[in-house]
Amino acid sequence: MQIVILPDADQVAEYAANAFVRQINHKLYSVLGLATGSTPLATYERLIQRYQAGKVSFRAVQTFNLDEYLGLAPDHPQSYRYFMNQAFFDHIDVRPENTHVPDGLAVDPQAACEAFERRLQAAGGIDLQLLGLGRNGHIGFNEPTSSLASRTRVKTLAPATVRDNARFFEPTEFQPELSLTMGIGTIMESRSVMLLATGEHKADAVARMVEGAVSAACPASVLQFHPHTRVVVDEAAAQSLALKAFYQHTEHQAQRLEAQARSHGPMA
Ligand code: GLP
Repeated sequence: MQIVILPDADQVAEYAANAFVRQINHKLYSVLGLATGSTPLATYERLIQRYQAGKVSFRAVQTFNLDEYLGLAPDHPQSYRYFMNQAFFDHIDVRPENTHVPDGLAVDPQAACEAFERRLQAAGGIDLQLLGLGRNGHIGFNEPTSSLASRTRVKTLAPATVRDNARFFEPTEFQPELSLTMGIGTIMESRSVMLLATGEHKADAVARMVEGAVSAACPASVLQFHPHTRVVVDEAAAQSLALKAFYQHTEHQAQRLEAQARSHGPMA
């Protein structure tokens, strides 16, 4: 895992947006894995700005979102499809038919999950997967004890997740307790992964993911097995990392090597 610790949430978003722009400009037909939640919002805002400034185009890109609430229509303000349209897709030149979010109203949800997997395979798999991190260590809606080999399927939300996400729903509104989510095995097949976490409320989950044992009790810890994962966090979310200074040192060395390679100069 590459651990990148930045001063604040703004710089995390800036770093992530730059990585996505680089990915797309390197491969115009990139397949992007996208996430919802409050963490990636600032990244999407920056990507919209880059698009408006003519620095990137999403015209040939395909996107696959991690998850959706079961039982919410695409035009329901709390659905993840609605969130993605509002926060991102409606403001860029991605083709709507190239954006894929699991179908929250599927009559046969399991069949819809299998169809989603087939579309993802047909697109050639994900080049760069953006992830947030649940306070309980979940990725997508893969709650603790999810199979580390799981595929896209229906999952029951953990009570902690229902509580965490209650802030988005009116007190009297129906709040789903079921979801469709990319599986952990599906996520692990992405060619590269970028997980973002900001704020001190994520510090414990970040430490368990990076420095804890790999365990279904903390689904994100499986990323320790992924060969190209970057964990990008702000200082607040990094505060419980025992080896924080080492990660900063490593990152500093990596940047030095990169700068050297760019200038083709000899090692100092
Ligand atoms: C949600 C989503 C996850 C997201 C996580 C963190 O429940 N299913 O994909 O990463 O919780 O959300 P936030 O970024 O708002 O903290």
